[in-house]
Amino acid sequence: MKAKVREAISAVEDFFKTFCGAMPYFHVSDGIGNEKQNKDIFEGKFHGYIRLGCHPDHVALEKQLIEMEGGAVGRVCSDGMGAVIKAIEPTLSYFMRKKNLKKARVIIIRTLYGGSDDAGVYLDESLLYNVEVKFLYSTDPNLLKNLRKAITKNTVLIFFENPGNPTLPFVDAKGIVKVARSTQAKPKVACDNTFGTGFVHPFEWGVDIIVNSGTKYIAGASSWSLGFITLSKGFYAEHPDCWKEMFRWSCIHGGTLGPFEAFMTHTFSMADFPERIRQHSRNALVIARMLERHPLVERVIYPGLDSYEYKKNFKSHVKPIDGEMYYGGMIYFYIKGASEERTNKFLFYLNNNTSIPNKASLAGDVSSIESAYSLSHKGLSAEDKAKIGITPNSVRFSTGLEPPIGVYQELSEALYATE
Ligand SMILES: Cc1ncc(COP(=O)(O)O)c(C=O)c1O
Repeated sequence: MKAKVREAISAVEDFFKTFCGAMPYFHVSDGIGNEKQNKDIFEGKFHGYIRLGCHPDHVALEKQLIEMEGGAVGRVCSDGMGAVIKAIEPTLSYFMRKKNLKKARVIIIRTLYGGSDDAGVYLDESLLYNVEVKFLYSTDPNLLKNLRKAITKNTVLIFFENPGNPTLPFVDAKGIVKVARSTQAKPKVACDNTFGTGFVHPFEWGVDIIVNSGTKYIAGASSWSLGFITLSKGFYAEHPDCWKEMFRWSCIHGGTLGPFEAFMTHTFSMADFPERIRQHSRNALVIARMLERHPLVERVIYPGLDSYEYKKNFKSHVKPIDGEMYYGGMIYFYIKGASEERTNKFLFYLNNNTSIPNKASLAGDVSSIESAYSLSHKGLSAEDKAKIGITPNSVRFSTGLEPPIGVYQELSEALYATE
């Protein structure tokens, strides 16, 4: 049987070389390796068993995503939370062993995705880990000072998002890296770049690890889930064994990306990805500017607005692409005087009467909206919500690819209809 498979492979090899303009889809879960390839398996070099992350469609996608972020090595997995946890856990384990630490500290900077926030709380609470998590706040005007104070000798990792989910603060990430490197503990810095996919480049700030929920902008169209981890060239060169540990943990953990999803992403999603990202951003800028003038809107947060509180950080961290600045597809806004009930009425009016669904995930082609207060960030305490600006009258809008004026008109219609 094995020989027959080999014959079949060699029969199509010439065909691939001479005919295929694009990579075909490999609907297989395993391959055949020689002795050397089997040894190489933990280096990610062997196109072997699918969970070991070396499926050809995984490798093709990883190549594109590593290049997008300017990383050294990377891995795709089944979803964004998989990427978050598979990056954090082995990094903690690697440095705890290397530094002979009994207990490690992780610093997590809120504002961040509710699931990642919960992962931080779990790491702190779980009896499986000897980890304490210290939460800081991106909205803290003394963030860098407080970060320096929070970095104890056993601090191993700092984790943040830029812009943060949901209220879009933009921290001085270069400052965070500088503070981290100037301490004795020299913790590594990891950034979730989901909100900044394609136009924000954290490795340029000195960040060591990037994770991304590709379920959102990378896959696009809200059709499948995907996660991605990549390491910076500097970090990988200095700590190749940390990558080996991540790779190994990922193989043990499972949560493999389906090969079809990998194929669809590298062949279709990535083809129009650069243009999609630009369009999300261009549309969002139009909508944010119009919302800012709406009589029923109290305040709009969007990095492209003059009123954006973190303008200075954004400008010093994000570069234009081909001469044009992009600010992303996410908008956060506050409805004048609205209670939680009225805000939910507004969301359900949109959901039931317009093309804008009320859902927690980000937009693909179609714009979407949600209340961070009662949905995506419901798990935070009232005090923490208030600290990062999540109020009952606020909503997170994720801009899709539709003509923006029509989308704004639907938002406006719903604001008046539920006044
Ligand atoms: C910033 C961010 N990180 C991570 C995740 C988790 O991604 P997934 O749902 O693909 O697990 C999300 C999900 O919304 C997110 O917004």
